[in-house]
Amino acid sequence: MKNIIIIGAMAEEIEPLIKLGDFEKKSSNAFEYYVGIAGDHRLIVTVSKIGKVAMATCVQHFITLINNSSEFEEKEIELIINMGVAGAISNKLDQGDIVVADRLCQHDMDVTGLGYEVGLNPDFESVYFDANSEIIEKIKKVHDTMDTDYKLHIGTIASGDQFISSHEKKVFIEETFGAYACEMEGAALAQVAYTNGIDFLVIRAISDLADGEAPLSYVDFKSKAIVNLTELVEKYIF
Ligand code: ADE
Repeated sequence: MKNIIIIGAMAEEIEPLIKLGDFEKKSSNAFEYYVGIAGDHRLIVTVSKIGKVAMATCVQHFITLINNSSEFEEKEIELIINMGVAGAISNKLDQGDIVVADRLCQHDMDVTGLGYEVGLNPDFESVYFDANSEIIEKIKKVHDTMDTDYKLHIGTIASGDQFISSHEKKVFIEETFGAYACEMEGAALAQVAYTNGIDFLVIRAISDLADGEAPLSYVDFKSKAIVNLTELVEKYIF
């Protein structure tokens, strides 16, 4: 049995998924987590809290827990998934649509003062962390079998420790990184997964358009976006 770790930054991003299965609640250090079985996989579902540091801490904690704890007899981690909401950067995207990241970057990483490309962490070769294209194909196929009133997009997700709600920031993120959507954790998960040699999937539903209306539309639309997302992740995993 292989392990799949599923992380939301906020409880409401994973609670609908937990309700679908028979999960046992546990805790480890600061993290509460839920363990359940889906076919021949063990699911470990948890909440990181908001932002890149919180996500990185969470991902590494669970990799280490699985590797070291006798609770987990099988140590292999097949996939680390981040599910949640995002703001739309590209105008191809609408509220309720879903974006799967084919690559992720940190829009607030800036070592240009030392001559590096914007977004590049000088300790890495690229601004972007690439996702596994086979996993993306599989998600696309699952979506094709569903009758949905939203679209599935595959594109770049840009993460940063900022809630984006201005035209200027949105234009910067689109023009600089070619991003479809923005959020606050996915690239951190991608970096930690990459560093540990584990595949990752960042899948996000659009809650707002990352513009001046974003704070209000985020609050209004968040739960509807999570319904769409949970349905797709459920079909992918169960
Ligand atoms: N998550 C959902 N909407 C967002 C936004 N506009 N900026 C950053 N993260 C988000």
